[in-house]
Amino acid sequence: MPQRKLFVTTALPYANGKFHIGHIMEYIQADIWVRHQRMQGSQVHFVCADDAHGAPIMIAADKAGKTPQAFVAEIAAGRKPYLDGFHIAFDNWHSTDAPENHELAQAIYRDLKVNGLVSSKTIEQFFDPQKNMFLPDRFIKGECPNCHAKDQYGDNCEVCGKVYSPTDLINPYSALSGATPVLKSSEHFFFKLSDPRCLDFLRQWTTSGAVQPEVLNKITEWLTPDSEGKVAMGDWDISRDAPYFGIEIPDAPGKYFYVWLDAPVGYLASLKNHLGKVGVDYDRYIADPQVEQVHFIGKDIITFHTLFWPAMLHFSGRKVPNKVFVHGFLTVNNGEKMSKSRGTGLDPLKYLSLAMNPEWLRYYLAAKLNGRNEDIDFNPEDFMARVNSDLVGKYVNIASRAVKFIEGGKLVSSQVEPEATELAQSVQGLFESRDYARALREVMAYADKVNTRFDTAAPWKLVKEGQGGEAAIVCSDCLQAFKVMTACLKPVMPELAAQAEAFLKCGPLDWSNAAQALPVGHRIGEYKHLMQRVDAKQLDALFEAAPEAAPAAATPGGEELAPPITIDDFAKVDLRIAKIVECKAVEGSTKLLQLTLDAGEGRMRNVFSGIASAYKPEQLVGKLTVLVANLAPRKMKFGVSEGMVLAASHGDEKANPGIFVLEPTSGATPGLRVR
Ligand code: 2FM
Ligand code: ZN
Repeated sequence: MPQRKLFVTTALPYANGKFHIGHIMEYIQADIWVRHQRMQGSQVHFVCADDAHGAPIMIAADKAGKTPQAFVAEIAAGRKPYLDGFHIAFDNWHSTDAPENHELAQAIYRDLKVNGLVSSKTIEQFFDPQKNMFLPDRFIKGECPNCHAKDQYGDNCEVCGKVYSPTDLINPYSALSGATPVLKSSEHFFFKLSDPRCLDFLRQWTTSGAVQPEVLNKITEWLTPDSEGKVAMGDWDISRDAPYFGIEIPDAPGKYFYVWLDAPVGYLASLKNHLGKVGVDYDRYIADPQVEQVHFIGKDIITFHTLFWPAMLHFSGRKVPNKVFVHGFLTVNNGEKMSKSRGTGLDPLKYLSLAMNPEWLRYYLAAKLNGRNEDIDFNPEDFMARVNSDLVGKYVNIASRAVKFIEGGKLVSSQVEPEATELAQSVQGLFESRDYARALREVMAYADKVNTRFDTAAPWKLVKEGQGGEAAIVCSDCLQAFKVMTACLKPVMPELAAQAEAFLKCGPLDWSNAAQALPVGHRIGEYKHLMQRVDAKQLDALFEAAPEAAPAAATPGGEELAPPITIDDFAKVDLRIAKIVECKAVEGSTKLLQLTLDAGEGRMRNVFSGIASAYKPEQLVGKLTVLVANLAPRKMKFGVSEGMVLAASHGDEKANPGIFVLEPTSGATPGLRVR
């Protein structure tokens, strides 16, 4: 087979949270495929990046008092332990906020525009008059027009399931400020996906073998005309108004690309950045018709990847994806919704911190992944059984038993039986089609046979009967079989395979040498135990529930009480009465007010406080409040904050807006200590 050139990606995770086990599963699935490809000589570039843009990230950053750039950089800095920990070997990790992505997204947009595929239209949307911004659907709440449930999101009701638009909500309010949103119109840009050229292209591309049959079934409905000749596919709103954390739309001041426009472009940006580092010309590479572009994604983002993204690429004159591989979701403990407090989640870093072998998880997930987009479940008993009984009890067992009867570590037979050769061929094909589950079943079925043969030949008896030579032949055959199995497991468990290669002294295994026998007289290395069994205690610890939160009814304000502290702990916090001498809005922040405080020190303090949603500056000037006076000064985007004023609020501000700054009863003066 000629050497293939593959450009492989996984979905880009939003840069507003740590990885969860679902991310890790996707990366492991793709990593296994990439390792398999490299074993058959394919040249692969395997990249990912943080999906940095969008309103939710901008709002989360603002809430944290950080710039969106600093906010996403912090998330990005935490990625490595997960990726290294689970042997996920991306060649590059980048960001959709990187310059390559700004350039590429703008270039693609310009090309689409030249091709007549961008239109504009003025639309009306809800606008938060306090925050001065258009509200994404998820940040508008109100009463469901159908079942009248309160506090439902702007796009659908979680109680009755009705789908509607935010303007249908009764008594809508902004989840950011609590304000009543007003309708405001603004010009938006659209990618004309309903253009007949697009529909024709997508009908052709989606049926070209780029997607799995079950995925094709799902997306065909978007493209198939109904009895009136209409298709469900509409034009796609690709613009958002400032303030927005994203990429500016060329020639349209104050307009940004909707995050989903620039997110998949991030695949190309990460590739470009990577190729730059390894000295390959990006334009040449991506124009090469031999290059196969492959995306691994979850089933929740199918339309973006199988309709919008291929159309964006095609109509901007670029290479389209060759394959979009869709997987299902990972549930834990029989599909119970993951929740930390109920202890049913599987925290990847906790897994690693318990010294659980990452390759157990790789093996277990691979044993469940079959290349279709079905959900899979992590079940602790099943996990333990598969690792302990199959992996250790069958595969590892062969080496640890056979090695004992090979005198001086010298092999005395060089036979790889036809069944093993067939196994390697079959498993190679199964990795190609991502049916890892069947590949591993075949390996384990073969391991069963080898173990049975070992038991039947009973080399320990042969030795006792003076037939040590016979025993060595049986065991040499077993080790030849072990070598083939090692190659078959290598994409899934690269570390284990490396240890087995060192033991066999066989050099790196790949699909071309997997079934080649080691010669007679080949000396194997010393056997060191290859893999520990899972200890039930580790699983108990992994799923140990976080301490139960006290029931909401018994908790003041519905928020859990913090753990107890001593009076000495409390005394460390120096609280002072302070007078709000001045108070101003902060330009560029919808959240902060800037306070000038007199805490009786003969100087003024500058404090930024996240209370803009609750107070107009003039409401606070002249009031007394309580200041945390010994808080270390903190550098923020807008300046240094020298302390913090105390205010009461709900734990879940979105559901329960409202902030109440503390004020002492009359008679208090600036500088008095609060104790
Ligand atoms: O659904 C998500 O998590 C998105 N951040 C995936 C983006 S994939 C690609 F388009 F960037
Ligand atoms: Zn409802």
